Amino acid sequence: MAERLVHLKVLRQDGPDKPETRRWEEFKVPYLPQMNVVAALQQIQKRPKTHDGKEVAPVAWEASCLEEICGSCTMVINGRARQACSALVDALAPNGEVITVEPMTKFPLLRDLQVDRQRMFDNLKKVKAWVFLDGTHELGPGPRESPGAQEVRYALSKCMTCGCCLEACPQFAQDVPFVGAQIISQVRLFNLHPSGAMNAGERLDALMTDGGVADCGKAQNCVEVCPKEIPLIDSIASVSRETTKRLLFGWLLK
Ligand code: SF4
Ligand code: SF4
Ligand code: FES
Repeated sequence: MAERLVHLKVLRQDGPDKPETRRWEEFKVPYLPQMNVVAALQQIQKRPKTHDGKEVAPVAWEASCLEEICGSCTMVINGRARQACSALVDALAPNGEVITVEPMTKFPLLRDLQVDRQRMFDNLKKVKAWVFLDGTHELGPGPRESPGAQEVRYALSKCMTCGCCLEACPQFAQDVPFVGAQIISQVRLFNLHPSGAMNAGERLDALMTDGGVADCGKAQNCVEVCPKEIPLIDSIASVSRETTKRLLFGWLLK
C-alpha cells in the first residue's frame, strides 16, 4: 500500500526586509497518527525538500507549549488564524487535501511563518494589565472576591496573547493604533479584580486615547475566532460603558 503523505503548501519569505523572496513552496511529508501541523512542519525540518525534489532551507516557525497555552505557534491555516499545535491533520485533510499554511498578516513578519507579536505585550504594559501588589504585604490579605466574579474573570484569564482576534479584526492593522479586543478584555479582567480595581481608572484612561475602545467597529470577527472562547464582545461592551461613565463623570473623581 502506498505510504500516506501530508501535502502542505507553505507561504515563505526569507526575512522581514526581503519581500522579493515571498513564495509558495509545497511539501509532502509522511503521515503520522494524531499528527498536528507542528509535527508536519517538524517533518519538513528533518528533510527540507519540496515535493518536486528541490533542497530548500528548513521552514522557520515558532512553538513552545504544544498544548494551546502559549499562543506562539499561531499561524493562518487553511485561511484561518489558529494554533498549529492543535490543528490536526486528520481534521484538516481527511482525504489528503492540501493544507495551506501562512504567517499572520497583522504583525511584522520575521521569517516564513514567524511573526513578531511584541505589540500585544507592549499594549498589555500600556494598560497596566496586572495587579499592583508591591509594598502591600504589611497590609494583610486583600479584599475577597465573590465566586460569581471569579467565574467571569476565569473565562477572561484564559487569554494566551495568541493574536487570532487581532488577525481577524478589520480595525486592527500594523499601521493603525487600535489595540484590539484582546487588550480591552484584559482591562476588564484586571478592573474586575478586587485589588486590581484600585487602578481601574488608569487602565480606562489608556483605552480612552487614540486607538482605544472607541475605535472598535463592533464587527464581532474577534469573538468568532478566539480559540479560548473568551466573551470578547461582552468585554468590549462592558469597557465601553465604563469609559463612557468616566468621560461623563470622571471630573468628580479629580
Ligand atoms: S468587534 Fe470587530 S472591530 Fe471590535 S475588536 Fe472585534 S473584530 Fe475588531
Ligand atoms: S482574546 Fe482569544 S484570540 Fe485574542 S489573543 Fe486572547 S486567546 Fe487569542
Ligand atoms: S505551541 Fe503553544 S499554543 Fe501551540
